[in-house]
Amino acid sequence: MKAVTWCAPYKVSVENVPDPKIINRRDAIVRITSTCICGSDLHLYDGCIPFMKPGDVMGHEPMGVVEEVGPDVDKNKIKKGDRVVVPFPIACGACFFCQRGLTSCCDNTNPKAYLGDHVLGQPTAGIYGYSHLTGGFAGGQAQFLRTPLADVNLQKLPEDLEDHQVVFLSDIFPTGYMAVQHCNPQPDDTVAIWGCGPVGQFAIRSAFLLKAAKVIAIDDGKRVPSRLKMARDAGAITIDFSEEYVYERLLELTGGIGPDICVDAVGMEAHGYSPDALYDKIKNLTMLETDRPKVIRQAIHCCRKGGTVSIIGVYGGLSDKIPTGALMNKGLTIKTGQCHVHRYVPELLDHIRHRRIDPSFVVTHRLPLSQAVEGYKMFRFRQDECVKIVLDPAA
Ligand SMILES: NC(=O)c1ccc[n+]([C@@H]2O[C@H](COP(=O)([O-])OP(=O)(O)OC[C@H]3O[C@@H](n4cnc5c(N)ncnc54)[C@H](O)[C@@H]3O)[C@@H](O)[C@H]2O)c1
Ligand SMILES: [Zn+2]
Ligand SMILES: [Zn+2]
Repeated sequence: MKAVTWCAPYKVSVENVPDPKIINRRDAIVRITSTCICGSDLHLYDGCIPFMKPGDVMGHEPMGVVEEVGPDVDKNKIKKGDRVVVPFPIACGACFFCQRGLTSCCDNTNPKAYLGDHVLGQPTAGIYGYSHLTGGFAGGQAQFLRTPLADVNLQKLPEDLEDHQVVFLSDIFPTGYMAVQHCNPQPDDTVAIWGCGPVGQFAIRSAFLLKAAKVIAIDDGKRVPSRLKMARDAGAITIDFSEEYVYERLLELTGGIGPDICVDAVGMEAHGYSPDALYDKIKNLTMLETDRPKVIRQAIHCCRKGGTVSIIGVYGGLSDKIPTGALMNKGLTIKTGQCHVHRYVPELLDHIRHRRIDPSFVVTHRLPLSQAVEGYKMFRFRQDECVKIVLDPAA
């Protein structure tokens, strides 16, 4: 089959690789009909997460049709021919963490757990196509995917919705939703969201679904003007940090107190024009800091006293100069995590079915899988007003 493989920093390739096979008795093989490139893939593309090996198949946002199931898959839940979306974390459904709905923290699905012990203190769940730190599983930017524990992980889809309406249930819709929902938003809250990439776009719309009074979206108008426009189209007030001072504007828009909820939908590769952004860049280049926590700093600085900072952007290692003084003295709460996708799928499918949101708004490009190399470049370098690319393995 054809699949997108990681070769080296800034180099991916579309290769012929062996078809996946049923290995364990509860595996299934899914024929992929749509699969996306994510901002998280850019951290691998840029070489920020050092646990990739040349030849690893990438991708963690696929959907498709079940081709084959292992003998022990519960056929009442998943059978050949079902249309399914694949949540990016792999859950066992039974451990301490899965039982509490924390599926991205599953204790049983990461066969490279020793790496997690060393790097994170405890291993987290396996993730498709996301390095050997999360299990070394082959990813879903491919024609077929092996999915372990299929009756827990594959989420059945109705037939009457288009791929582009449901494929983002694999990751970015639940992720944007969790970013706000786990902060326990109140009806009169103001939610500020850093980053108007695909995750930020879903966080904005989710904040409205969760009845936020005001949503403020922040990004770089010099680099991604169309993303700021997409945020305004959803009803957000936007701040262009290439021209405006974020802290001053946020105070102005919140009667001087700051936003109740501040979402970091940017992560470890934040850029900026301030001295601390330059500081991060230098420390990053000289390998004295793995992550660039510009947005975490600013969110802590801007958040109202007693408010919540939600870190949904991905971080990989170590950050410097986090303002713990402001964090502690202002009594802030930090919420964070890889998304516990499984627990949000039914609720979000219901929002889609009742037309409260149509997730296809975010798709700017659908490309054949064979053009993934161009797709990665376009998404990485923000060309052609790219927001979200869906790859088509059958084209
Ligand atoms: N926690 C999870 O489960 C989860 C799931 C999916 C993605 N993510 C992470 O979410 C983040 C966003 O993903 P995406 O697909 O939207 O990525 P993306 O790279 O397309 O978007 C990031 C956006 O942030 C903007 N940005 C950069 N520096 C900024 C700053 N200082 N202030 C404001 N905006 C800034 C960029 O211009 C860009 O538009 C990534 O870190 C990704 O890894 C996390
Ligand atoms: Zn993703
Ligand atoms: Zn588990």
